Amino acid sequence: MSTHLTPSDRTFMKHFAIMIAGLAATAVVLAIIGGVVYSFEPSPQSEAKTIEASERITPVGAVYAGATGRAAMQAAAAAAAKAAASQVAYGGTTDGKVIFDQLCTTCHTTGAAGAPKITDKAAWAPRIAEGIATLIKHAEDGYTGPDGNHMPARGGNPALTDAQIEATVKWMVSQVK
Ligand code: HEC
Repeated sequence: MSTHLTPSDRTFMKHFAIMIAGLAATAVVLAIIGGVVYSFEPSPQSEAKTIEASERITPVGAVYAGATGRAAMQAAAAAAAKAAASQVAYGGTTDGKVIFDQLCTTCHTTGAAGAPKITDKAAWAPRIAEGIATLIKHAEDGYTGPDGNHMPARGGNPALTDAQIEATVKWMVSQVK
């Protein structure tokens, strides 16, 4: 047997060498990508972080048990009720003037944002002609007039109830009639 390489052997060796070089290059590229991806992975969570997280969710996940548990639950309920009460706008009053003086006045006394002034009978006449129900609905849902002036829903205070809005609109209308 001769060790002499035929031309087809040479061609094979050349192609084989190119293929090996290509695979080596691919391996290097993959190693680099792997390194980059790993660098973006969050490091294993430390114990301190785990404790901090469990402390953060405690009020939600707490279990109330026994006599102390009952007291804690009642305290939590009382706190929740107090928080809910503070969501009642202006003490829940249905005195339209009181509500107007605390909120609506910011625009409807000065005419800010293009609001019809509470003293401007001419500006209110065509609005009143639309009917009180429409005015109340516009005050509740918000309304953008033909001139692009915007009345925010509930004057911007979502805690105002429908009854409070109705009382305030009626009071306003009584002032400009
Ligand atoms: C940030 C300013 C602003 C506040 C606060 C505000 N308004 Fe208005 N309001 C407007 C503007 C502007 C218009 C006029 C919109 C238009 O071009 O028709 C308007 C229009 C109205 C109208 C007439 C709607 C219609 O159909 O013509 C009523 C009623 C009204 N407001 C009630 C209230 C009440 C009640 C409050 C308080 C709870 C209030 N507004 C607070 C800006 C305000």
